[in-house]
Amino acid sequence: MAPQISPSILSSDFAALGAECDSVPSADWLHVDVMDNHFVPNLTLGLPVVESLLRHVSTPIDCHLMIEDPDRWAPAYAEAGAGSVTFHVEAAHAPIRLAREIRNQGARAGMALKPATPVEPYADMLPELDMLLVMTVEPGFGGQKFLDIVVPKIRRARELIAGSGGEVWLQVDGGVDVRTIGICAEAGADVFVAGSAVFGAADPDRMVRELRGIAEEASA
Ligand code: DX5
Ligand code: ZN
Repeated sequence: MAPQISPSILSSDFAALGAECDSVPSADWLHVDVMDNHFVPNLTLGLPVVESLLRHVSTPIDCHLMIEDPDRWAPAYAEAGAGSVTFHVEAAHAPIRLAREIRNQGARAGMALKPATPVEPYADMLPELDMLLVMTVEPGFGGQKFLDIVVPKIRRARELIAGSGGEVWLQVDGGVDVRTIGICAEAGADVFVAGSAVFGAADPDRMVRELRGIAEEASA
């Protein structure tokens, strides 16, 4: 699959969220980080804000739920119209059932792994998923440094996906910028979340296109 860029609005100006979303028309997705101050030590936004964004933007929304009990909360984001809903496996009580519910509500089902969570135990679950998110920082905050230690896991995840039929997208999130995106693409990632790199740039949309170009070159 051609590389896709999903700018994380966590690094945007929340007082001007609509305009910030409009500033990246080249984005394939808009990445929305939902944090509950329990699963991660930070609090961001929830369903009402996502519903407002869905009315405002035409770019599909990629919800990354960093919350406890996603079994209870995640299906509502799919029902609201998010194109992709990703839960953390560390927080899910019944990840297979949850992935099926997200798909039943019409969204792509994503499952996220924190940096220290191995991918191998979930190999048999891949057919239940549309996307696997390998976190390249500890979830909770934008602007952290990319964890190089996760690169071999990206590679192993790509191998497992290839072995399972190859339909699952492989997303990376955290510290992705012009230096690290090529490393991730070369290791097999194909969906790239970038927050501070995009919204900290003088021209965010140009940065989206630049990142995509680097990823295309590295994955070719
Ligand atoms: C962190 C979030 C990320 C964050 C990435 O927990 O999941 O989506 O916004 O920000 P950068 O790209 O600045 O590392
Ligand atoms: Zn995220």
